[in-house]
Amino acid sequence: MAQLGNDLQAAKQLLEQGEVVGIPTETVYGLAGNAFNPDAVLKIFTVKNRPAFDPLIVHTDSLTKVSQFVDEIPEPARKLAEKFWPGPLTLLLPKKPVIPELVTSGLSTVAVRIPNHPLTLALLRSLDFPLAAPSANPFGYISPTTAQHVVNQLGDQIPYVLDGGPCQIGLESTIIGFTDKHHPIVYRLGGMALETIEAVVGPLTVRSHSTSNPKAPGMLSSHYAPRKPLVLMPTHYAAVDPEMSDVGALAFQRPIENIPSDRQLVLSPTGDLTEAARNLFAYLRQLDQLDVDIIYAEKLPDEGLGRAINDRLRRAAVR
Ligand code: TXA
Ligand code: MG
Repeated sequence: MAQLGNDLQAAKQLLEQGEVVGIPTETVYGLAGNAFNPDAVLKIFTVKNRPAFDPLIVHTDSLTKVSQFVDEIPEPARKLAEKFWPGPLTLLLPKKPVIPELVTSGLSTVAVRIPNHPLTLALLRSLDFPLAAPSANPFGYISPTTAQHVVNQLGDQIPYVLDGGPCQIGLESTIIGFTDKHHPIVYRLGGMALETIEAVVGPLTVRSHSTSNPKAPGMLSSHYAPRKPLVLMPTHYAAVDPEMSDVGALAFQRPIENIPSDRQLVLSPTGDLTEAARNLFAYLRQLDQLDVDIIYAEKLPDEGLGRAINDRLRRAAVR
């Protein structure tokens, strides 16, 4: 069973031995291994039960280190990196051969991010290799936002989880790629709002809704899903059958009528989208564990982080 603690030295040693370790980030917990070591990378895929066609994000702690495994940083990418790293933003950049094919599922670009978490930044600084890390959940399930979530689901397969407390953002990073002409394209909505990014690089093209998009194969529609069926309600007042006693609900600001209060969770009573994002995955897990047959989730305003939250709920609703 995985040990849980904040022993950086223990985590470092295990990673140097080619082991995989749970690590905290500001978005979600990651399942990390040496990105330069194909055996360690293979372990990540095995533990997660993740198909090999779904590439991983590589984490490091400085732009200088990024240059060791990335061929070229287009101008808008450099601008975004300088402005938002460390932070919840992943950039797709042309890879150098030192990144194993398995990491990128054979693609010519590698997904890169400098995460904003003091413990993980210290760990990355102490290592002479970057860390490949997908979210530390079994493939297709809700991403973990606490160390305990990781232990609960993957604890019997990994030696250590570095506990950095609950994730401050709670949504996976926003993923941005670039066309040949360096136009930025959003491949996954996430923890950094589009409005924030557009303020720096201008209008973005969003391509995160296609389920057959070969560039972001991880964006399968049935993703981030609880085990229970989830129904996305377009408005707060969408009728819920009061006869249905086996319903749980995820509300935005106030409880949904007709559903008993012990079967619902409210994401943010003040209507704060940042708070809602932070609570989203933990609340979905809680609802999944209740004695209910179905989960109703209320759609949030389509702005700021609300867009990424709605994206996750939509995907969770697909069976
Ligand atoms: O916030 C996050 O991004 C977290 C933390 C741990 O950093 N990581 C995370 O990783 O969410 P994961 O593996 O669950 O999601 C990575 C996504 C996948 O959808 C994958 O398809 C996409 O990134 N991806 C990775 N490399 C890619 C590439 N070269 N081109 C297009 N998509 C890529
Ligand atoms: Mg994931």
